[in-house]
Amino acid sequence: MTKPVRLALLGCGTVGAEVVRLLHEQAADLTARVGAPLELAGIAVRRITRDRGTLPVDPDLFTTDALGLVKRDDVDLVIEVVGGIEPARTWLVEAMRAGKSVVTANKALLAEDGGTLHDAAAEGGADLYYEAAVAGAIPLLRSLRESLHGDTISRVTGIVNGTTNFILSAMDATGAGFTEALDEATELGYAEADPTADVEGFDAAAKAAILASLAFHTRVTAADVHREGITEVTAADMASAKAMGCTIKLLCIASRGPDSRGTESVSVRVHPAMIPVSHPLASVGDAFNAVFVEAAAAGQLMFYGRGAGGAPTASAVLGDVVAAARNHLAGVRTPSESSYAALPIRPMGEAVTRYHISLDVADRPGVLAAVAGVFARHDVSIATVRQASASAGPADGTGPVGRGGDAILVIVTHVAPDAALAATVEELRGLEIVRSIASVLRVEGGSR
Ligand code: NDP
Ligand code: HSE
Repeated sequence: MTKPVRLALLGCGTVGAEVVRLLHEQAADLTARVGAPLELAGIAVRRITRDRGTLPVDPDLFTTDALGLVKRDDVDLVIEVVGGIEPARTWLVEAMRAGKSVVTANKALLAEDGGTLHDAAAEGGADLYYEAAVAGAIPLLRSLRESLHGDTISRVTGIVNGTTNFILSAMDATGAGFTEALDEATELGYAEADPTADVEGFDAAAKAAILASLAFHTRVTAADVHREGITEVTAADMASAKAMGCTIKLLCIASRGPDSRGTESVSVRVHPAMIPVSHPLASVGDAFNAVFVEAAAAGQLMFYGRGAGGAPTASAVLGDVVAAARNHLAGVRTPSESSYAALPIRPMGEAVTRYHISLDVADRPGVLAAVAGVFARHDVSIATVRQASASAGPADGTGPVGRGGDAILVIVTHVAPDAALAATVEELRGLEIVRSIASVLRVEGGSR
């Protein structure tokens, strides 16, 4: 019988418990695929007395000493499904410097300080696998890291947060407002008790940093990502999107291209955006994830599936465990991080996008010209203007026609640098004829 590959499992919550279950249920197949049995050496948790239900595992394996477990001589490979920056970073650095390969789902740590992890892996000659960190079960990172390594990726556009996609899909389907849709997501168990990381875009920004690092062979951290969440998206925005044949999604957009000085650079942003209903990402509903990759030779590729949940995420973890265990037995490691391109990060102001702006303005002669003049001053070209509604002016009809009431102007621009669009909006805010700016949303996909 071949010597087993001994695993330290750090964390036994939503994902960790499913890892234990799959290791147990698929033991025979995993042994055949790896070439040796996979055996749990220990499981580190925070609360040793927590009821683990019917988990098929020896209770004596549990410990609260994660670092001690990582350091044990009988541990070959470490699986980390705890999350957070510390102490997870210390455990993983310790493991890899000692030559023990790591499989982790920890997107927050990878996005905050992936460089330290990659350096430790290189130093110790260990593997660092993290397929589960982005888009759960979808085999996306290995595709970027291996399958597309002969190609040049120009852009990655994705829906990488299931909670916000559930909320926006509900708003689109029922006309609900953000709070109502969030309540439904919480009731159904999609949103966590504290939904900040999801609804404010932190989770998606971490994933965007990981995707951009892999796609563009450049170290990108969460701090490099422009981030906006979905808390400001209203039912009126969604209705306005629908009127344009669009829907609203929280997109992660990573692209490479020349900056304003012609230097090849990387732009990474996460924000809500209108996309046409004909766009492949528009039909991605509920809590599903999807990522659209554009590459020079491969063309357009779409990845779709479950981005979260215990079993889907554990599937990705187990795939990595099999790869790392095989390498361990063969005494090899996969090629390390590829960050040779080291491209600079382009500021958000240089990102090129379209805008949908909804203005509440005074309804009198010259207003449209004044508004159009602001766009012209900032060199932003208007694509369409629509007067969505207008009040009639004084009820007795005595007022001059077109005076005294309000009008809603909906303006969609052609592409322009984000800084020019932001300056346009700022100047509009200061105009006496603009009563309020009801909404400002970027528009992606479709004609430019
Ligand atoms: P949970 O909160 O469900 O589980 C966390 C586990 O870590 C628990 O078992 C907890 O112990 C243990 N733990 C916490 N602190 C410590 C500590 N100091 N020492 C030892 N053990 C500790 O998290 P999830 O399973 O949901 O997530 C785990 C990781 O996977 C995170 O990085 C997350 O971002 C990532 N991920 C999660 C997805 C999901 O759908 N849940 C999807 C993709 C990635 P105890 O059981 O005693 O509380
Ligand atoms: N909270 C995340 C989501 C799941 O809603 O997609 C973990 O990545």
